[in-house]
Amino acid sequence: MRSDISGFYELSVDERLKIVKDMCNLTEEEGELLRKTGCLSLAKSDKMIENVIGTIELPLGIATNFIINRREVLIPMSIEEPSVVAAASHAAKLARPLGFTAKSDSPIMIGQIQLMDAPPDSKTKIMAAKDNIFEIANSKDSTLIKLGGGLKDIEVRVIDSARGKMTIVHLLVDVRDAMGANAVNTMCESVAPFIEELTGARSVLKIISNLAVYRLTYAEAVWKRDVLGDDVIEGILDAYEFAVADPFRCATHNKGIMNGIDAVLVATGNDFRAAEAGAHAFAAIDGYKPLTQYRKDSNGNLVGSIKLPMVAGVVGGTTNSNPIAKISIKILNAEHANELSEIVASVGLANNFAAMRAMVKEGIQKGHMKLHANNIALAAGATHDEVPAVTSMMLAENKISVARASELLNTLRKVE
Ligand code: MEV
Repeated sequence: MRSDISGFYELSVDERLKIVKDMCNLTEEEGELLRKTGCLSLAKSDKMIENVIGTIELPLGIATNFIINRREVLIPMSIEEPSVVAAASHAAKLARPLGFTAKSDSPIMIGQIQLMDAPPDSKTKIMAAKDNIFEIANSKDSTLIKLGGGLKDIEVRVIDSARGKMTIVHLLVDVRDAMGANAVNTMCESVAPFIEELTGARSVLKIISNLAVYRLTYAEAVWKRDVLGDDVIEGILDAYEFAVADPFRCATHNKGIMNGIDAVLVATGNDFRAAEAGAHAFAAIDGYKPLTQYRKDSNGNLVGSIKLPMVAGVVGGTTNSNPIAKISIKILNAEHANELSEIVASVGLANNFAAMRAMVKEGIQKGHMKLHANNIALAAGATHDEVPAVTSMMLAENKISVARASELLNTLRKVE
């Protein structure tokens, strides 16, 4: 068995696969499964990340019933967790006919340049040289400038750290319809040498911030009192205030929001880690708080809203190279990044509302368990035709485990 795999990255996919197969005792069948890709080919994947040996699929579902800014939208969601798509669809149904009202700020991302040993007059010098900095920054990406994007403003902050004072330059960059990391990082790197020379400081990091406080997205929906009933509304308000008051609950509350958000971001080929980091940093800016808010209006209806940074793009990155991501964006009919952000935020709100409603009413497990049991049956090796029988037996016994599914499967196969 080969143990030295230096240069792995230089090998072809087939060669890499052979090594992994040998080292990890994969069967012929497993090797074939790894080679069998969908419409994201091995050749394409090999250009997207390093050391590729296959692709991994996730289900793609469509959440229905969404009206966002008076437009009916079908929402592609990609996620491994049962119930998330159904929950979003149900919340959207209960919010009809008005649906969700959403808006978003300009797509301004922050690029940070970290300066060490900056003399005290650095901030003044940087602000006085704004025009030069704009010129350097905006010479890098003519397409972005043509589209109305580019460097829009500069901020300078001085922060204390265990390594002494740091002067942090923020480039506020309008990234238009992209997520923006490439444009912003390139700009920071191109501007840093000029700033070093200007101030005499030493630059260290030049990188985008995922805490995109200038790129916030807002969505709101009203769930009517006669649809929900007063008890459910009171329960949801209790549940919401629990999250406000307790970070242990709040983490799960926000996780439920990200269920919906990440699923749309994955379906559209967006960097969901960037959105996650931004969302949780934003939630923690003033002590960790829920990303959604709930209140009763004067008629006793439940008003839910969400506000968070949303760094989603409809151009660039995987949104272009993954054919399914492209189709997802077409299904959403989101021409611009701000429309995508508004949809994503609305889905996050929908999932959060749905989770709280379910927990307040029948508990989360009832709806969850059937799909969960399906997954368990599949994991135990049930075929498509065998899944319904195994699932219903496990549900009837209230015993849902791979071990039990295997036993039931054996019995079933013997009978047949
Ligand atoms: C599960 O993925 C998400 C929930 O835990 C969210 C919540 O508790 O609000 C149901």
